[in-house]
Amino acid sequence: MAQISKPVRPHRSATTSTIILLTLLSPCMAQTKTTSPFTDQATGIQFQRFFGARTNFGFGIALPQTPNTSFIGQLTFPLVNRAGWGGFSLTGDMEGPLLMAAWADGAGGVVSSFRQAFDEDNDPPEVTGAFSVRPIAEATSANGSFLTYTFLCEGCLGAALGLDAAAATTAEMGWALGSRAVRNPGSSAGALAFHDTGFGDFEADLAAARSAQFDTWAALAGAPLQPAAGARAFDLAAGDGEGDSGDEGGADEGDRDGEESDDDD
Ligand code: HEM
Ligand SMILES: *[C@@H]1O[C@H](CO)[C@@H](O)[C@H](O)[C@H]1NC(C)=O
Ligand SMILES: *[C@@H]1O[C@H](CO)[C@@H](O)[C@H](O)[C@H]1NC(C)=O
Repeated sequence: MAQISKPVRPHRSATTSTIILLTLLSPCMAQTKTTSPFTDQATGIQFQRFFGARTNFGFGIALPQTPNTSFIGQLTFPLVNRAGWGGFSLTGDMEGPLLMAAWADGAGGVVSSFRQAFDEDNDPPEVTGAFSVRPIAEATSANGSFLTYTFLCEGCLGAALGLDAAAATTAEMGWALGSRAVRNPGSSAGALAFHDTGFGDFEADLAAARSAQFDTWAALAGAPLQPAAGARAFDLAAGDGEGDSGDEGGADEGDRDGEESDDDD
């Protein structure tokens, strides 16, 4: 305390002192990063975007003015010699909600895959359901060091999947980034390795993600992608349970804060 109050000169107001105090203390406290506005240059789509300055991982979301089950998403992240994958969770958790991961297919294209995790030990299996994804080619690309994947996700939102955008103005979502090569990368069932580069959660400002231009942007989307043979049905019970349960125990929180402290700055 003595060190903190020492530089505060007498003419400063109590408010100024409080601000200085909070500024000094804030690096010690866990912070959940909130999305901010981001406009994609290729399409003009206006996202609310989470961006991790340490990893350069980005996830943007755009919603209709009256939110329903669809959204436009954008994943942007670095690759390591073409390898790696990035993804998001509809909640701050890995287990239960609808997940999506994307990676480079090695032939200039981007592969995307819906996943659902039932534990944190295994590669989450590919899932199908009443949701589908339609890439926006104008803003989808991959080279040796970076991937951009922009897409319309239809039927992807709802309480049973983890996020009900019609009922929420903000939501906790999750992200993950791995640097290791996806095995069998040409298939949406390709095997993912642990997200060794980083992972965590963020707060999505869903109210600010709404736009009257949604339909114009959605019209840029191509045909829906099909899952690989063997994809299993999304387990709605697991999605609902995890999605509504919010944060888990203290151990998770502790781990998460440690991992996240760098990513959220
Ligand atoms: C082989 C594949 C994967 C493995 C082995 C794995 C493993 C794990 C483990 C062990 C944790 C907990 C880490 C901790 O709390 O310290 C975790 C958290 C997390 N994972 Fe995964 N994961 C995999 C794939 C994915 C995928 C594909 C996504 C999303 C697309 C994802 C999203 C998340 C998120 C958002 C968290 C944070 C959850 C929380 O803190 O409660 N993971 N993962
Ligand atoms: C969601 O709303 C948008 C914008 O009005 C509309 O284009 C789209 O068809 C709706 N999607 C569903 C699944 O109702
Ligand atoms: C890869 O793509 C990114 C983003 O489009 C770009 O900034 C970067 O310069 C490209 N790198 C190479 C080696 O072409």
